[in-house]
Amino acid sequence: MPTVVTTIEALREQLAAARALGQRVGFVPTMGALHAGHASLVEAARRENDCVVASIFVNPTQFGPSEDFSRYPRTLEADLALCEAAGATLVWTPTVDVMYPPGDQTIVEVEQLARLLEGRHRPTHFRGVTTVVMKLLLAVIPDVAYFGQKDFQQQLLIRTMVRDLFLPVRIETCATVREVDGLALSSRNRYLSGVERESARSLSQALFFVRDRIAAGERQLEPLVNEVLARLWATPLVTPDYFTIVSANTLEPVTAPGPDMVALVAARVGSTRLIDNCLLVPPENSPTARS
Ligand code: PAF
Repeated sequence: MPTVVTTIEALREQLAAARALGQRVGFVPTMGALHAGHASLVEAARRENDCVVASIFVNPTQFGPSEDFSRYPRTLEADLALCEAAGATLVWTPTVDVMYPPGDQTIVEVEQLARLLEGRHRPTHFRGVTTVVMKLLLAVIPDVAYFGQKDFQQQLLIRTMVRDLFLPVRIETCATVREVDGLALSSRNRYLSGVERESARSLSQALFFVRDRIAAGERQLEPLVNEVLARLWATPLVTPDYFTIVSANTLEPVTAPGPDMVALVAARVGSTRLIDNCLLVPPENSPTARS
């Protein structure tokens, strides 16, 4: 089993010992309820570092008042087993008091990017994410921290925050892990009933449809987006919040195909809100076209 610590002092003691041995530190922040997507992050960290720290903390400040903080799955025993199997050497499980001690009053906010897309539907979400990730990164100060592409906007905000605040940490974004039918792995998938699980496939199907049409040379983005939105609305139990094609660097809408585009979708399936995304490559930007 990996060593498990709760306090910042115990964490720093373990990290100091690793650093004294000249070890490189990789870090995977999580909220627990771990699945194969998290395992792939820990495995990536294991390949590139000697000491692999995973944190497990269900961060209250990134949940809105009507969101699922209290029922968010807490599965510590299974999480520790997954961390061990994937190669974590240290697991940090801080409490709310450790992360937000009484009197705590500092927040970290990435202004513009946090207001777009998810920010429109979850206005305080990213403030909670960037604040907790900053605290986690400052406690560990890893060489590299690993995040999933599944939370595309989150990883972009974190990259921006790290750049803006001169944090000496490399941010690595790892590919989304999917079920065989394309559904992106998410801790919230376990909320889905059997019929909802069937309908949830429609999100990745919509993304892959758009990816394939653009790779085949489609240049009319607006009708394409309208077509997939109509399909999503027509899928039983699915209520889309958005399906959009934006710049992967700025998240601003794009009107014509170009490099660095991403399609993003958010929808409720039953009462569970899911997000997913897919990078888009028009034929003129594909590796074969360039070679
Ligand atoms: O992606 C997550 O699991 C969380 O948003 C994170 C990055 C661990 C911050 O709480």
